Amino acid sequence: MKVQEELLLQPPRGMRDILPTEQIYWQQARRVSEKAAQDFGYRRIDIPLLEFNNLFERSIGEGTDIIDKEMFSFSTKGGERVALRPEFTAGIARAYIQHGLQVAPKPVKLYYTGPCYRYDRPQEGRFREFFQFGCEAFGESDPILDAQMIQMGWRIIYQLGLRNVRVRINSIGCPACRKSYRNLLVSYFESKKQKLCIDCKRRLETNPLRILDCKEDKCVQVKMNAPQSIDHLCEDCRIHFKELLEYLEELEIPFEIDAALVRGLDYYTKTVFEFFAGETGEDVKKSALGGGGRYDGLVKMLGGENTPAVGFSLGLDRLVALMKKTGAKVYKEPKAKVFLAQLGTFAKRKSLRMFESLERAGIMVSESFGRGSLKSQLKVADRLGVEITLILGQKEALDGTVILKDMSSGNQEIIDSAKLVDEVKKRLKK
Ligand code: HAM
Repeated sequence: MKVQEELLLQPPRGMRDILPTEQIYWQQARRVSEKAAQDFGYRRIDIPLLEFNNLFERSIGEGTDIIDKEMFSFSTKGGERVALRPEFTAGIARAYIQHGLQVAPKPVKLYYTGPCYRYDRPQEGRFREFFQFGCEAFGESDPILDAQMIQMGWRIIYQLGLRNVRVRINSIGCPACRKSYRNLLVSYFESKKQKLCIDCKRRLETNPLRILDCKEDKCVQVKMNAPQSIDHLCEDCRIHFKELLEYLEELEIPFEIDAALVRGLDYYTKTVFEFFAGETGEDVKKSALGGGGRYDGLVKMLGGENTPAVGFSLGLDRLVALMKKTGAKVYKEPKAKVFLAQLGTFAKRKSLRMFESLERAGIMVSESFGRGSLKSQLKVADRLGVEITLILGQKEALDGTVILKDMSSGNQEIIDSAKLVDEVKKRLKK
């Protein structure tokens, strides 16, 4: 006989349910961010949760923590190597090429929201299933678009009621200036090789820039004196960065240049940035609320035309956690002003249709159809604090009428059910 495995009544580690009571924060975060994206002319795109593994390997880059350690990869029954998306940008660039979106007027502005998966060590603000909102713009190389991305992210965080939003920004150059910078880095880290962690010793051969992203204490020490990309930019990258900073000054967005900021994904060129928020004096080194940058080489690298692009993503889990902590404004759930009570088998049957005609007319109605006694239904109506209770008894159901009770005065009147919608609307207006 097959022994049944124990059923664990919990999701896998690092994943969790978001219960209805918490949705007021999530709804607020989603509404504010989607509204901002739409206001800035972005259109929604949805992409699959699964992509071929090599899409992420090529774009995020081997040697990054995401690819080397954090991918939820597996083979399908058909033998295809796939992975749960650790982020959206790679999949969106894939969709942009696949659907020939480059023929649309530039820039092509897209936004998205949904879950991502990274097999990271769960801790505060770090989950294996987490949610992102983000924007990507394809086909524009002007730094004004980098500024607009930062403006949007900044505005969303601010509009969620989170204060002291800070932007950390850096330029990691383009392939042209990165080549000589990479050589400088390699010779610097070669001279300190003994002090690096095992992973970074390997990275020195495969992807030396990634050493700058290592969180190991000893590597953090070594990289403090490493050459900085910002000092080795080519003329084009230097002007791009300078103009971006001027735009941010114009927008009065507070930013800090962080020459150590390299971000954990390989596709970036030129601009990289991250968002932080918190009360003054709080540790600014804590996890970012979001991040992004320019990735002018990604579309071409994946097989598309040469297409400059820039984008950012916000971590909704972290935004929500901070909203809760700071008592930020939440989404106000709509409340019904009308309650529909029924009594008797025939009336109960009719009540479903009556509910639907009110709802179709845009009137939100509460009910407690499962309860038999009128008294207990009226108790619910009282508790909900509705303005009107409609009572459909056996007699009314047969007559084609309904009793309308004004909850503040207690007055009751009999209404022709054919005129019910108009009568309810009239009273609610009052
Ligand atoms: P990222 O910095 O890897 O960038 O992720 C963006 C944000 O997602 C982070 O700042 C953080 O708030 C949230 N996040 C990341 N990992 C976790 C986790 N394990 N648990 C909770 N939240 C997390 C990207 O994903 C890029 N695709 C951003 C981008 C868009 N660049 C250009 N366009």
